[in-house]
Amino acid sequence: MQDLRGYAVSGADAASLGLFEKALAQFQGYVIDPVATIDKAIIQSPGFVMAHLLRAYLVLAGTEAAYLPMARDGRNAAAALPTNPRERRHIAAIDALIAGEYDLASERFEDILLDAPRDALALQVAHIFDFFRGDARNLRDRVARVLPEWRPDVPGYHAVLGMYAFGLEECGQYGRAEETGREAIRLNSGDVWAHHAVAHVMEMQGRIDEGIAWMSARESHWAPDNFFAGHNWWHWALFHLDRDEYARVLELYDGPIRGSRSKVVLDMIDASAMLWRLHLRGVDCGARWGELVEAWAPLASDGFYVFNDFHAMMAFVAAERWDLADETLSAMIRRISSPGSNAAMTRDVGLPLCRGLYAFGRGEYDETVNWLRPVRAIASRFGGSHAQRDLIDLTLIEAAQRDRQNTLVRALAGERMALKPVSPLNRRYRDGALSISRAMPLNAA
Ligand SMILES: [Fe+2]
Repeated sequence: MQDLRGYAVSGADAASLGLFEKALAQFQGYVIDPVATIDKAIIQSPGFVMAHLLRAYLVLAGTEAAYLPMARDGRNAAAALPTNPRERRHIAAIDALIAGEYDLASERFEDILLDAPRDALALQVAHIFDFFRGDARNLRDRVARVLPEWRPDVPGYHAVLGMYAFGLEECGQYGRAEETGREAIRLNSGDVWAHHAVAHVMEMQGRIDEGIAWMSARESHWAPDNFFAGHNWWHWALFHLDRDEYARVLELYDGPIRGSRSKVVLDMIDASAMLWRLHLRGVDCGARWGELVEAWAPLASDGFYVFNDFHAMMAFVAAERWDLADETLSAMIRRISSPGSNAAMTRDVGLPLCRGLYAFGRGEYDETVNWLRPVRAIASRFGGSHAQRDLIDLTLIEAAQRDRQNTLVRALAGERMALKPVSPLNRRYRDGALSISRAMPLNAA
């Protein structure tokens, strides 16, 4: 049997292959629920290698240690079956992911895509892990390398364009990113990743009113029954935050962002990231932190993926749960000497950032500045998007302001104003720094 992109698959029949294609399309569109669909394919054809592997990839994309046994089960089921060379390469890529060797996995995906550039599953998973590794170049160019081998009539082409749009955005090519994202949406209005890429462009360019209109007008396409909806709601709230509309932000937080009290880490990240932004602005988030602490607490001693640890730390610090904050720091320190890509991400970026958050919570703002300043320029190494990592810069400028480091605030405000002059928050930092500068002549020291 061959899949819709012309590649041989082992152990499938027409029915199970149809279910595999459906699950893959759900994965590409973050539609609920590809695991249920692929389980049906496995029941239909227990010897279907790629179905077992897709199931493993789906759980690995959750970046949670709890899912590793399920990933191993899928990998082992596939490895026990007759396989073709492409499938064996997928098993090797999954082995690297299970071992936490994300850079090695990236190379193995590259090898798969050199020989099979229309392998949509390899591209999808590689793109997600490029995001988790903060590899902007590959977010864009891994897609660019395969694009010549795709055509609009190959199923899933829109998803390739959606990925390319996001990669272009993360590389700062906003015009081409928006154009490509809109083209993906024209081909498939339900492409939530492409929708999200365009939202990122508007976020980065400070097109706040347009951003709100974009989210609002297209809500019926990205919100229903979608795993990624929470993150798109987060982006919507971010636009309102840029307008200082805190009541609306909290309304979105209490509703679609956090109303479900999701225990999915990717949802908890958005929740922490939004509350911390409010916390920096002095907005009282009340019992919301307590609820989030309860959600993060079981992962405090995890040290599985540092981007998660960083967002757990925000909740622990804001709620002054120093026991859990200490537990997280200890887990991260242990993790530095473990194998896997997360060790270096933790050592170089995550641990200093978490120490910076910790100091912020203690009111030691000079310490926060000392921890964050050397790391922020290399912070992409621990994953996430520019919009997500802006939280590091926001924490730094707020800490500098609270520590009365006026020249630093003025410099950072200059940087922020150059990127997004329409932001009232940026203007406040700049105006505050300028007013102090005016009151203090240069030779006053
Ligand atoms: Fe995003």
